[in-house]
Amino acid sequence: MAMQIVVRHDVQEAARYVADQIAKHLVANPATVMGLATGETMRPVYARLRHLFASGEAPSAAFTSFNLDEFIGVPTAHPGSFHAYMEDELFRHVVDPEGRCFLPDGLADDPVAAAALYETLIAKAGGIDLQLLGIGRNGHIGFNEPGAPFDGRTAAVNLSLQTCQVMQGFDGDQPDRAITMGIGTIMEARRCLLLATGEAKADAVFAMLEQAPSTACPASVLQGHPDLIIVLDRHAAGRLTDSLLKIADQS
Ligand code: F6R
Repeated sequence: MAMQIVVRHDVQEAARYVADQIAKHLVANPATVMGLATGETMRPVYARLRHLFASGEAPSAAFTSFNLDEFIGVPTAHPGSFHAYMEDELFRHVVDPEGRCFLPDGLADDPVAAAALYETLIAKAGGIDLQLLGIGRNGHIGFNEPGAPFDGRTAAVNLSLQTCQVMQGFDGDQPDRAITMGIGTIMEARRCLLLATGEAKADAVFAMLEQAPSTACPASVLQGHPDLIIVLDRHAAGRLTDSLLKIADQS
């Protein structure tokens, strides 16, 4: 298992580490194919990335990106949609994102066909070089909720009650379905970079890293990934045992 665990003091430092890793990939290969994530955890990562783009420290004109997921039936202009989130956080700060920054089409008449098309697009781009991931309190990655198969492909899925309860940006009209990359799709990324911050993620991080891989904690599949970097702040790392902490980079 080629896993690196990085623990940083706070959210800002952890997010900065992640953004700097992304920038390193972009500098080495401006045409990197990235898998992107949304969520509150990623906002400081994108803030730092915007800074690196604006200062010219990282190139933004040639990457291709595929977001992990999008809600089904939510207009792209709705502030709760992941399209709107990505537009605000990143895409309107990069040169010509049209035709190279993709999200699943949650408005397609046929979500099953839209999911299959997404897989085709990822394959056509040559697969994902660097997959950014957050983690749900229930251990989900993308919207692969507990019980999702480890070999799943991009699909239309139901969201768990817990996921709906913590969802932001909707006024009682929460969507309950999404199109998400499958766990099998995620595991094919050449490198995975997962960020978890805050005490609310400590149990999920514990299950992901300290318990035997099980579909009860979808993120635990990552223990089998050949090139994985897990970045935590001290709160999300709060339940890790000494045996894992002693191999972590805690500088
Ligand atoms: C978002 C995604 C989700 C989030 C997870 C954590 O694209 O795929 O798995 O990463 O729900 O969300 P936050 O960061 O809001 O706690």
